[in-house]
Amino acid sequence: MAGIYIHIPFCKTKCHYCDFYKSTDFASRPDFLAALMLEIKARKSELNQEAIESIYFGGGTPSVLKVAEIDRILTQLYQCYRVSDDAEVTVECNPDDLSREFLEALKASSVNRLSIGTQSFNNQDLKSMNRRHSAQQAISAVQLAQETGFSNISIDLIYGLPNQSLEAWRDNVQQAIALKVQHISAYHLTYHEGTVFYDYLKNGKIKELPDELSFNQFKLLKQELEKAGFEHYEISNFAQPGLYSRHNRAYWERKCYLGFGPSAHSFDLKTRRWNVSSLRKYLQAFEHNTPYWENEILSQQDQYNDYVITSLRTQWGISDSYLKQNFSGRFYDHFMIEIEPFLKSGHLKLHNGAYCLNTEGLFISDKIMEQVLFVED
Ligand SMILES: C[S@@+](CC[C@H](N)C(=O)[O-])C[C@H]1O[C@@H](n2cnc3c(N)ncnc32)[C@H](O)[C@@H]1O
Ligand code: SF4
Repeated sequence: MAGIYIHIPFCKTKCHYCDFYKSTDFASRPDFLAALMLEIKARKSELNQEAIESIYFGGGTPSVLKVAEIDRILTQLYQCYRVSDDAEVTVECNPDDLSREFLEALKASSVNRLSIGTQSFNNQDLKSMNRRHSAQQAISAVQLAQETGFSNISIDLIYGLPNQSLEAWRDNVQQAIALKVQHISAYHLTYHEGTVFYDYLKNGKIKELPDELSFNQFKLLKQELEKAGFEHYEISNFAQPGLYSRHNRAYWERKCYLGFGPSAHSFDLKTRRWNVSSLRKYLQAFEHNTPYWENEILSQQDQYNDYVITSLRTQWGISDSYLKQNFSGRFYDHFMIEIEPFLKSGHLKLHNGAYCLNTEGLFISDKIMEQVLFVED
């Protein structure tokens, strides 16, 4: 079982928090699509005809494509790979792109899951993030998608925003619940270098939320969504029973995946590969038939670190037997020494043979991760 990720590197405008690779220059869109088709075909032997269980269009903004373009990409994928009949096919969408016409055409294609970037249901937040839509537009977009017949919808929210009160965040969470979607991804704001928010923070124009308020927002999110029947299956991801994102799970369960398009990553259990994060260089490489990626063969240390990174923040945790089987010796010993204080403090618990974080542990998971990762002196 394997997954496919396609990076659509275009956005109409740039949001103030976002450091995903994107370009606002749409002129090269036909060239990009042509190169993408070539990449999909050129790599068709890489998965050895393994069954594809999930296809994910991410970005950038995949919903700036015409449905006919999404269909063209899918047809190419179906021709080159063995896609399962019941594969999860997700398209990330921005609310302002979701017209009835677009949604109806998408519903008629093999796309069966939408991930809609609502981000917030507060107009002031949306404006400060430089989003292109209002709260009402975000709500209407989700409702329209439901009316069109989409029954597997995820929405994205961001919390921990500058000046965001607990009450304002509660309103957001309540609005998200009221939409009756199947999946919610809620991310704490990260300040990435190179973004407008990062510069504002450095210039003192905005301030990070105090940790205590951030933690209270996280607790409220977890409590309210669990009350509404969602399962908290990864630090930032909540699903109605069984409706996890297959795409996300493929990363955490260490399945092979192929990533197409600029900046997309691929993984085949032994090698990590990343395409160049530049549309210009990606296109030039296809023109001159030169490499557009770099790769790295994973050492045992990399594999241990990867396993810890991908498992620690999920509800399934870090399996003791998997660690013992695959990383016995210095990596396993390192792990056992480093987790000791967190087991004592209760942040980490051994449950059904796996080390899992409690709510506070999840909130401080960056700190715990720093300790358990193996870094050569
Ligand atoms: C590829 S991005 C956006 C997809 C789509 N273009 C959109 O804007 O809705 C996926 C999600 O990552 C989250 N995200 C991006 N940058 C973030 C940041 N700095 N902090 C927290 N969440 C972030 C947002 O919720 C976003 O919807
Ligand atoms: S959040 Fe989405 S729309 Fe905004 S810049 Fe990032 S990828 Fe583009």
